[in-house]
Amino acid sequence: MSQISKVLEKIKEDIAGKKVLEAACGRAEFSVYASKTAQEVYCVDLVDFRLIEEIKECKNLTFELMDVTDMKYGEQTFDTVVMYNAIGHLDTVISEAITESKRVLKAGGRLYIISSFKMDKNVIEDKVIPYLQESGEKYTVEADKTYTYVQIEK
Ligand SMILES: C[S@@+](CC[C@H](N)C(=O)[O-])C[C@H]1O[C@@H](n2cnc3c(N)ncnc32)[C@H](O)[C@@H]1O
Repeated sequence: MSQISKVLEKIKEDIAGKKVLEAACGRAEFSVYASKTAQEVYCVDLVDFRLIEEIKECKNLTFELMDVTDMKYGEQTFDTVVMYNAIGHLDTVISEAITESKRVLKAGGRLYIISSFKMDKNVIEDKVIPYLQESGEKYTVEADKTYTYVQIEK
């Protein structure tokens, strides 16, 4: 099982049959895997040159060039938003990226910040968690041998 399949197995209740957004998707490999069980997947990034070819074969997957701090989606559009191996690249816009992700989440939806990267784990510890504490967000943090999972409730 690939590493992404393990992540998807862990958060399957928020992916299977759901409308999912991957923010700062890069290659969009997470989105390609998620699209196999999700109802619909959208993924956004500032650039498109990293996208993997398989994205073209996924009929329920849409990529759009977009800044995660200023998305064109309406309020309460998605059941689930995921930032996968990406938070280290959003370290200067953490509050904006989280606020915007929560805006597009439906009531009761979840934002996941998930990473296996050391750089991202440092950003989670040094910036994301202090921000969540200061802003009174409802969240949990879990880690296994590979990944750190931050789950934020709307
Ligand atoms: C580590 S990379 C790719 C992560 C991706 N999940 C993957 O596995 O390929 C992080 C990505 O964040 C994107 N990014 C950085 N700032 C962004 C922003 N404000 N809005 C959207 N994407 C952004 C970068 O373009 C880059 O593709």
